[in-house]
Amino acid sequence: MILIVGPSGAVGLPLIQELLRKNAEVRALSSSDVSAAHLRDLGVADVVRGDFRNTNDVKRAMSGVDNVCLIPPRFQEDELDIGKRVVDAAVGEGVSHFLFSSAYHAQMEDLGHHWQKLRLEEYLINTDLRVSVVQPSMFMQNIRVEWPKVLETGLYARPYSPDSLMNVIDTGDLAAAMARILLEPAFQGASYELCGADLLSHTQMAEIISGELGRKVTAVQRDLSDWQAWARDRNWTVYAIDTYSAMCRHYDTHGYKYGNDIILKAILGRPPTTYREFIRRFVAANTS
Ligand SMILES: NC(=O)c1ccc[n+]([C@@H]2O[C@H](COP(=O)([O-])OP(=O)(O)OC[C@H]3O[C@@H](n4cnc5c(N)ncnc54)[C@H](OP(=O)(O)O)[C@@H]3O)[C@@H](O)[C@H]2O)c1
Repeated sequence: MILIVGPSGAVGLPLIQELLRKNAEVRALSSSDVSAAHLRDLGVADVVRGDFRNTNDVKRAMSGVDNVCLIPPRFQEDELDIGKRVVDAAVGEGVSHFLFSSAYHAQMEDLGHHWQKLRLEEYLINTDLRVSVVQPSMFMQNIRVEWPKVLETGLYARPYSPDSLMNVIDTGDLAAAMARILLEPAFQGASYELCGADLLSHTQMAEIISGELGRKVTAVQRDLSDWQAWARDRNWTVYAIDTYSAMCRHYDTHGYKYGNDIILKAILGRPPTTYREFIRRFVAANTS
């Protein structure tokens, strides 16, 4: 039985679909009725309703499990505490394998959400769990947020330089790699930087989008204060806004580079999805 903590986001949903395709026995800890219903629709027979901030809920979800995947939520100030609670429950249950979904360049201390992930990696080393860690680069699927504006205005606006170089990964490839790690002990007990082959600026991404969409798209830099106002309107916490802003400043100066696809290729047994292949699929699925 594989327990997925953090099942309904950008990492969890494709992972669950991949595991179900492979007939794995999956349990999900889900915090909302809507997400739980969606997970059941996807085919997850065992959905435990509960809160990862509640120790009893986490222990209840862990009962009888021997393989755990923790996918931490985005931009939460208590990300490390949530992770420790899940790890402690896994130790208590005596699980045989624990997979942690971290991030590429987790060692960035000035990026709170990276640093909390690194600290959880350290916490895991100090258990005797058989631990695997994946450190994925930037998700190609992030474009979902800006996509309506891209179609409406022809502008792909991000709050950092459109010339910064970013390594990107398809979350479908990430899911396929994580599923292999969860299901095949030969891949367990290691930390993996998972990166696609493409190192692209948003200007270059916009050129690829233009080609596949058949319409000119231009990457532009969104003013960070404009993004911050947008986030405040959507009730982002101060921590989340500050952390995201720090990430944008880092990307503005350094990008998210370089990344090497050698590990992802080895785990998948095939070349990773290219940005153009992803965009071709994405455009087909998201234009009427
Ligand atoms: N975006 C990128 O480019 C990128 C790149 C590298 C790494 N990452 C990292 O990838 C991680 C995962 O991203 P994501 O978008 O999949 O995360 P997410 O959707 O924010 O969080 C994961 C899931 O946690 C569950 N959850 C939320 N609150 C909960 C609660 N109180 N109790 C129990 N479960 C709760 C939700 O599923 P339910 O609704 O079912 O409860 C949610 O879908 C993040 O830590 C992010 O930093 C992102």
